Amino acid sequence: MGTLMTNQTLIENYQKRIKRIVITEEEIKEAIKKVGAEIAKSYTGRPLLLVSVLKGAFVFMADLSRAINAPCEIAFMCAKSYFSGTSSSGEVNIIMDIDRDIKDLDVIIVEDIVDTGRTLKRICEILKERKPHSLRVVSLLDKPDRRVVDFNPDISLFTIPDFFVIGYGLDCAEQYRNLPYIAEYNQEV
Ligand code: PRP
Repeated sequence: MGTLMTNQTLIENYQKRIKRIVITEEEIKEAIKKVGAEIAKSYTGRPLLLVSVLKGAFVFMADLSRAINAPCEIAFMCAKSYFSGTSSSGEVNIIMDIDRDIKDLDVIIVEDIVDTGRTLKRICEILKERKPHSLRVVSLLDKPDRRVVDFNPDISLFTIPDFFVIGYGLDCAEQYRNLPYIAEYNQEV
């Protein structure tokens, strides 16, 4: 009985932390359909590689790749930001790299969110050194108010103000990635 009560509280707290839906499942679907069609239309006949940055972008990659009606390959990489104490300068390290040569490929990085911009700036620098034919960034969300480095995605589906968002791949302490929509996280619960 005690365990059941605890489980109930956990579920209630989990739900209470989902403050409000910011972008619905339907809005995400529509935007992805449009961007997927644009990417397919701009397809040049060159080998196309979609690169996703784990973990946050896994849901967006799955949906965007299926909205692109053109031949393409999929690859994944994983980055981690390190901060030293109170210093505001974050260092981004690649902890899992893509498993293929990208020389002469058209590469599109598929990301869930551009926040400070550090992750994408660093990943673009690393991938550019490998001489792809082209390199573009498509981000589901863009939070320009939070930017600390000079970086902007080539395409962003939604621009949002500076509040904590979860769902559709984005997490809070590894939870909520599986929500089918983007929600605001309630930090007061
Ligand atoms: C998030 C997101 C981006 C990055 C953006 O990843 O997926 O990769 O932060 O932030 P930035 O613009 O400030 O660099 P996170 O480090 O939270 O890891 P996750 O993808 O595993 O959730």
